[in-house]
Amino acid sequence: MEHYFTEEPKSKLRLGLVRTWLRGLEFEFLTASGVFSHRRIDPGTRLLIEAMVLPEEGTFLDLGCGYGPIGIVAARLRPQALVYMTDVNRRALALAEENAQRNGVTNVRVLEGPLYDPVSDLLFDVILTNPPITAGIRKVVAPLIQGAAEHLKEDGSLQLVVRTTKGGRNILRLIEESFSRWEVIARGGGYRVLKAEP
Ligand SMILES: C[S@@+](CC[C@H](N)C(=O)[O-])C[C@H]1O[C@@H](n2cnc3c(N)ncnc32)[C@H](O)[C@@H]1O
Repeated sequence: MEHYFTEEPKSKLRLGLVRTWLRGLEFEFLTASGVFSHRRIDPGTRLLIEAMVLPEEGTFLDLGCGYGPIGIVAARLRPQALVYMTDVNRRALALAEENAQRNGVTNVRVLEGPLYDPVSDLLFDVILTNPPITAGIRKVVAPLIQGAAEHLKEDGSLQLVVRTTKGGRNILRLIEESFSRWEVIARGGGYRVLKAEP
């Protein structure tokens, strides 16, 4: 069965365009069937984007970037930062590259591979993610959260959006195991944005 995290989606390519305002700026994203939330910006993603706390410069990671909304908005808001965007879905990665160009953003690097594999030697100031819950809490989300603690600078943070119900409690427990502090920085529509510090 094909999921939005399938490496090489075979479903017929149907392109779409999402035009929207985020953080007071206008963006245009090319989307396609076979990638996560291709008809609109996912409401959890929107909540994370509107709430994310970004230093003026540094190295950021958008893990599981899909067609790119989180990383591209971060890169546009912080032109002095370098934003790595990773995913396992090649169709999503091609769209993320295209969308960076469409939105005039050059301070991004789009890389293919699971979890921290494509950025194994880097430390980040911020790791941003709308995590791939459907790919499995134990298989993907747990190593994502544990790995974040190992890939953050001392004063860095993991900022992620979770549904209050779907896996939310398990995710909180994982965060408490790997991070010394965490707080809720936004909530609404059944989602919460968490900011965790090592
Ligand atoms: C919930 S979607 C979020 C997509 C995008 N950031 C957004 O907010 O629209 C999660 C993304 O994680 C990707 N993903 C799934 N498993 C992954 C893994 N092991 N490593 C990296 N990314 C993965 C999926 O392909 C998907 O694009």
